[in-house]
Amino acid sequence: MEKYSIAIDGPAGAGKSTISKIVAQKLGLEYIDTGAMYRAVTLKALSTGTDISDSQSVVELLKDTDIDFRENHIYMDERVVDEEIRSSEVNQNVSSVAKIGEIREILVSKQREIANSKSVIMDGRDIGTTVLSDAEYKFYLNASVEERARRRYEEDKSSQSYEEIKRDIEKRDEIDMNREISPLVKAEDAVEVDTTDMDIEEVVDFIVGRVRGGKK
Ligand code: DC
Repeated sequence: MEKYSIAIDGPAGAGKSTISKIVAQKLGLEYIDTGAMYRAVTLKALSTGTDISDSQSVVELLKDTDIDFRENHIYMDERVVDEEIRSSEVNQNVSSVAKIGEIREILVSKQREIANSKSVIMDGRDIGTTVLSDAEYKFYLNASVEERARRRYEEDKSSQSYEEIKRDIEKRDEIDMNREISPLVKAEDAVEVDTTDMDIEEVVDFIVGRVRGGKK
């Protein structure tokens, strides 16, 4: 089969990464978690005491940071940071990093470079609208904020309560949807899937079915 791309966008907790990983396996694609890249920069800023409100310092920091995916792990400066990037501290700060224009430019070009050489399923907030705007398949996953908070609460190893997680998610949605550059929005040609009352298998079957059937 020819090289193709699947773009998956949507708010936090809509099921993007869980679904994308399984679809990647079923269709033999590489899975690229772009949120992990924004999280890795945020982790580096937090761990080096960089002031996140000072965009220029964060940009300089990123220029000096090596972010890479290898064998389903995310590496920051040659260190696996899969777990650390999911901390509540990173959760609370990542949207502020993700709204910095120059940070987005650097990461978007890295994401395009990765997708250029192979078939991928890539998830994020601006994949269908910006990063891979000519992706063959585009899906926008959504779910009620209560359901998204419930999922995060169940998978989270942090000590946050359901209410705290829900508040964090609402705050992140607000920043992600209202930022100036590439805000979270459904691409016009994306298929919207409300996963509130669907289980993982149903969503996977829906996506795999459309791709196998060549239905864009
Ligand atoms: O998907 P996630 O929760 O790991 O994303 C973390 C943050 O990064 C979230 O606030 C939105 C931002 N993000 C983004 O702006 N663009 C992307 N392509 C992916 C994530």
